[in-house]
Amino acid sequence: MPTNAMTAPAVRASKGSGTPLVMVTAYDAPGARIADEAGVDIILVGDSLAMVVLGYEDTLQVTIDDMAHHVAAVARAKPRPLVVGDMPWMSYHVSVEDTVRNAAKLMRAGAQAVKLEGGRKRVDMVKAIVDGEMPVMGHVGLTPQSIHALGGFKVQGKQAAAAAALVDDAVALEEAGCFAIVLEAVPDGVARAVTEAVSVPTIGIGAGAWCDGQVLVYHDVLGIEDRISPKFVRRYANVKADSVAALAAYASDVRTRRFPSDEESYHLNGEVAEALGLYGAVTKTA
Ligand code: KIV
Repeated sequence: MPTNAMTAPAVRASKGSGTPLVMVTAYDAPGARIADEAGVDIILVGDSLAMVVLGYEDTLQVTIDDMAHHVAAVARAKPRPLVVGDMPWMSYHVSVEDTVRNAAKLMRAGAQAVKLEGGRKRVDMVKAIVDGEMPVMGHVGLTPQSIHALGGFKVQGKQAAAAAALVDDAVALEEAGCFAIVLEAVPDGVARAVTEAVSVPTIGIGAGAWCDGQVLVYHDVLGIEDRISPKFVRRYANVKADSVAALAAYASDVRTRRFPSDEESYHLNGEVAEALGLYGAVTKTA
């Protein structure tokens, strides 16, 4: 574990510190290094991987092996933020044994905690993973793995009964042993009620300012993904536009022979060049 590394107990204990937790997703070693150098608290290797990296339409397509592959890439960067591995759809739905084995797969790949979606109906799975000494982050509200059951990517908890159910779900997750809970796409008043009802940190995405922390998807924050822009995303860079411009400049330099320059080339010494029958510009050394 790197020095000054964030831990699940430290995340749990941060509730009430007055400084919101910062979580961002990352899916590979360079992303993990960037998040680390930026000083974030938690890196989530999210199953959003499916949509922002692998080109799928939803998150249902990634497997536990896909997730372990990317958790391992992030962990190899040895980042100081806590590394949380997202359990994909069907990796914690079949049986308790299967769930614990799949959580262990992400931990062995380098995760320091796992995240799973759902409230009261996931309590047995959460307890079993926690019993296996693996910290669990909960996730309620809009749970993208339930997109077909929910009828789309829709804000959750807008009616009184649904809001109360969300509070009950979060309390059940805390009681089952979760060290933090993601709240996705819920009205800010519901996020406030949940945040006040639990003693573990809530981390919001599209859940307003009352949460104990915030999470955004790496590709959204940096403007790598520019096709869709949900209301809750704030873009801090335009990496896609900058990258297109950079690659277009490279292509133009290659086609007009402005790249590579003499300084960007290796050169023969004069003797060898002469032996090869080459004269002129190629005879510099190094
Ligand atoms: O997979 C993911 O990126 C997530 C965040 C949106 C919380 O679950």
